[in-house]
Amino acid sequence: MPTTRTIKVLPTPADLFRAAAEEFQRVGREAIAARNRFTVALSGGSTPRSLYSLLAANYAGFDWSRTFLFFGDERHVPPGDAESNYRMVNESLLSKISIPAANVFRVKAENPDAAAAAADYEAQMQKFFALSPGQFPRFDLILLGLGPDGHTASLFPGSEGLKEQSNLVIANWVEKFKTHRVSFTFPVLNNGREVMFMASGPDKADMVQQVLEGKNTPPYPSQQVQPVNGDLVWMIDDAASKKLEKTLPHSS
Ligand code: 6PG
Repeated sequence: MPTTRTIKVLPTPADLFRAAAEEFQRVGREAIAARNRFTVALSGGSTPRSLYSLLAANYAGFDWSRTFLFFGDERHVPPGDAESNYRMVNESLLSKISIPAANVFRVKAENPDAAAAAADYEAQMQKFFALSPGQFPRFDLILLGLGPDGHTASLFPGSEGLKEQSNLVIANWVEKFKTHRVSFTFPVLNNGREVMFMASGPDKADMVQQVLEGKNTPPYPSQQVQPVNGDLVWMIDDAASKKLEKTLPHSS
């Protein structure tokens, strides 16, 4: 179970992304002070784009030179593809901050062999974190989104990747999209010091309620993210919180 579980309800999407940016900065400063580096796994999709833009616009003074950015998942497309998470992060953040290229670890998803791309990414992580066989990396912060079907990263309901307990990164076949996606596995997600979900808008309200309050068998993938020795934070806006039975006060 997580060390702590915090659910923050922010009035508007703008408040949500501001709070998420502040949390990113807080965790980053703490990590750099304690370990002289800040390791982050970024989430993809559309929700985090606003966070990344905010970080680029308002946090230029942040110590990007000691920040190391990874991707919690990536679509099986080249980096210039409209679907690419790398492209979204590059447009919203990387192209706007001064971060050394060596601090950004991109999934080489242009490789037609998705399993080889996953294995290459796993090797990059094992090298960076100096992992022994069987060890998992401990990211200071892992950002995650919530899919309408309860998926997170690219761990989709019913997919083989849900069962992976030894590899760090897999090429997960996603039947609904008829494609592979490269994704972190649960052992990596659940080894984070802090895991922060962001969910915004009314379309996520049903799944937010299911994941935070539902007892589902099998559990939704997002429910299986339970950091074993870390903090779990949910940042949601009012619209995404609407179906929660337990009303929560607005966070500042
Ligand atoms: C991806 C993400 C995925 C995303 C959810 C929510 O590559 O798409 O990793 O897990 O977080 O699908 O996506 P939205 O933010 O677009 O709703």
